[in-house]
Parts: sequence; C-alpha cells; structure tokens
Amino acid sequence: QSKNLFPYNVVLIGFMGAGKSIVGRCLSQSLGMDIFDIDDLIKIRLNSSIAKIFENHGEDYFRNIERETIAEISKQKNAVISCGGGAVLINSNVNNLKENGKVFWLKAQPETIFQRIKDDDSRPLLRDKMNLSHITALLSERWAKYKSVADYTIETDTYSVEEICDNIIKLL
Ligand code: S3P
Repeated sequence: QSKNLFPYNVVLIGFMGAGKSIVGRCLSQSLGMDIFDIDDLIKIRLNSSIAKIFENHGEDYFRNIERETIAEISKQKNAVISCGGGAVLINSNVNNLKENGKVFWLKAQPETIFQRIKDDDSRPLLRDKMNLSHITALLSERWAKYKSVADYTIETDTYSVEEICDNIIKLL
C-alpha cells in the first residue's frame, strides 16, 4: 500500500478503555503510518509494566517520564500517537501534541468503559476501584479537558474498531 504523507500527527486522546491503542494500530495499518503508543514506549524504556512503575516510583515519576516521552515523540510528523488517558491533564503535553498534531478524542460513556475494562487489572488508577461509580466520577472530572483539547470528537460507544478508524480517516 502506498504511504499517505500527512504533514501532521494523528493524536488519540480519551479515557482509559476508550480504544486509543487498538484504534491507533488500526489507523497505522490502514494509512501506512508509524504508531507511537506512549504507554508502550514508557514500558519499553523502563522495562516495566505501568502498574509496577506506579507501585515502585509513584504517579509523579510516571507523569515525568510520560512528559519526556510525549515531548520527544511530538517532534514527529506523519505518525499516529496514542496517549495514556491522563496525558492531556498536563498543559505542556497538550502544547507539544497540538503543535504538529490533529487531536481526536475517543469519547465513551462510563458504562461502555466499565464493560470494556472491568476484567483488566493493569491500570493502577482503577485497580482497587474498578466500579462504575468510580469510573463515572473520574471521567466527569476529565470530560471538559478532553473536549477542550480535541480538534475532533469521535463517538465510540456503538461502533466497531474498524468503523471508528474509518470515521477518523474521513476527517484527515
Ligand atoms: C492513565 C491511563 C493509562 C496509563 C496510566 C494512567 C490515566 O493509559 O497511562 O495508567 O491517568 O488515565 P490508558 O488510557 O491507555 O489505559
């Protein structure tokens, strides 16, 4: 397949379980673009799971590594960048990501998120509180931020990965 060359990055943001990683891989395959999954890069860099990084060093340490990784990767163009759910809470990350990037918010309702991730204990912020009311509370704290950072809002609740991917491609 011929390579699409966009003079910008496709940046995926949104809550845990919104589908950023899997949709990112779909986009990268469909468009022949490189994919940079920020959490995966952090795991490789520290040779550790996200849960272990939080456990051993704390959230602030993780956020620092996340900030450095985003600053580095944002210099790319023509790449898909999947962010962790908390990345856009830090303004310098937003500035870096938006500099070369079109930002897509993968939007999902709390019920959808809960159904998607309830059996997954890899997320330290939800590990001991994997229930709908906690997800609802955390998501509502972040909702306005996701909305304001996004150039485009992408509905995910009732769509397949392929449909979500196609809907993003139409906007590029
Ligand atoms: C986080 C989301 C996670 C990961 C970390 C913190 C968050 O990424 O970066 O556990 O603050 O929402 P995913 O959104 O890929 O689960």
